[in-house]
Amino acid sequence: PLPSPFQVPLPVPSVLAPVSTADGFDRYELVQREVTAEILPGVPTGLWTYGGTFPGPTIESRRGRSVTVAHRNELPVPTVVHLHGGRTPADFDGYPTDLVLPAGWSGDHHMHDPQAMTTEVTREYTFPLDQRPTLLWYHDHRMDFTAPAIWRGLAGMHLVRDDAEESLGLPTGPRELPLMITDRAFAADGSLAYPALDPTLRERPGVREPYVAGVLGDVILVNGAPWPVHEVDAARYRLRILNASNARHYDLEAVLDDGHRLDLVQIGADQGLLHVPVTHQNLPIAPAERYDVIVDFARVPMGSRVRIVNRLGSGRARDVMAFHVVRKAVDESRVPDVLCSDLPEWQRSEAVRVRDFSFRAGQMGDGHGWLIGGKPFDPARTDVTTRLGDVEIWRLVADVHHPVHLHLVGFRVLSRGGGPPLPQDAGLKDTVSLRPGESAELITRFDGYRGRYLFHCHNAEHEDMGMMANLQIT
Ligand code: C2O
Ligand code: CU
Repeated sequence: PLPSPFQVPLPVPSVLAPVSTADGFDRYELVQREVTAEILPGVPTGLWTYGGTFPGPTIESRRGRSVTVAHRNELPVPTVVHLHGGRTPADFDGYPTDLVLPAGWSGDHHMHDPQAMTTEVTREYTFPLDQRPTLLWYHDHRMDFTAPAIWRGLAGMHLVRDDAEESLGLPTGPRELPLMITDRAFAADGSLAYPALDPTLRERPGVREPYVAGVLGDVILVNGAPWPVHEVDAARYRLRILNASNARHYDLEAVLDDGHRLDLVQIGADQGLLHVPVTHQNLPIAPAERYDVIVDFARVPMGSRVRIVNRLGSGRARDVMAFHVVRKAVDESRVPDVLCSDLPEWQRSEAVRVRDFSFRAGQMGDGHGWLIGGKPFDPARTDVTTRLGDVEIWRLVADVHHPVHLHLVGFRVLSRGGGPPLPQDAGLKDTVSLRPGESAELITRFDGYRGRYLFHCHNAEHEDMGMMANLQIT
């Protein structure tokens, strides 16, 4: 029994309290565990969670203040934690074979990488967070099994803030809302239906035909609630939107019941503030992308309902959530004409090399695979070696839709399909949505830390079926 849209109140994930804040860093503890929760009203659903909730609790951090999160694994399978968008030393970046073992489990470790550390049931991840303020997210990253783990609930948000951003006067407090959008499918018994090849998720990676393109659900969740509604003041709101879906793309618009659309004023991208705001009528968002958006509910009549809909969805999957404008309010927020002036502007002439990568379907073992440069992921192979500090141009080309994500660094989109970037490519990105048949050029400087990092498609099923590669920074 699915609820009708816009009935369930929007939950806002709780903010995790540190267990200590001594010596210039914050320490957190999270237990990864199974719970049963009511996602659909009256229906119990088993979840894998960070700390007992889906989404996991939000972590709030200050730029440059280091954070340690101790993760204890009480789930029935090994896990790996990755902070997506984090500028993180390689040891703490959640390499896919760098497992946190399940407490009390001594099973066959599904080990591909002899170098991997595989003895711990609690793992401490330290994040320096010396980076531009933005919305990061943490999620599972175990080799071959990331998609089903995220699907079952292993995802949470992590906000980084700093004084400069706070001095801008953007909407804050209850008028700043993190919104994690996911789609899920539910079986008749309330469980999250996932078409894995191996239902125990220990041995055989991948999904059954015809899901190899990616698993879609017919229920749209925002912060873990189906098609929720949120009552708002007639004022500006800052929406920190994350598409944490495995494979679903959205093209979001804010629409009134009379068909009028409300502007989506983008102020930030994956890696923080834009130089100047960009106004959109609709905003495409691929898996793992984040958009920081201002919506002004003072521009609509009191009592209006503003629906957020997905122009790419049909039927129930078209609705995402709704805002109900219920209160007149004083609004002292502002959206400055210039948001920041610290965006890196790498020039083509600075690039010391240009690389080409294709993202295409292919054969992997005896099944369907997704390949980068014709090869499926192999943790024992180094695909790219670069020197710390080098600026490079990467030319990517896709067969079908592939949201391509680089660990460690943010990049600028230089071009698409030989033409200029799209309006939503503005700012510093860590995930670029390659559309079917499209090419794009990125530019970045590989700075921060040396070590082994990843780049991959963030369609989680593609990622599990080989579409990942190693980047060694020396
Ligand atoms: Cu969102 Cu390699 O991850
Ligand atoms: Cu892909």
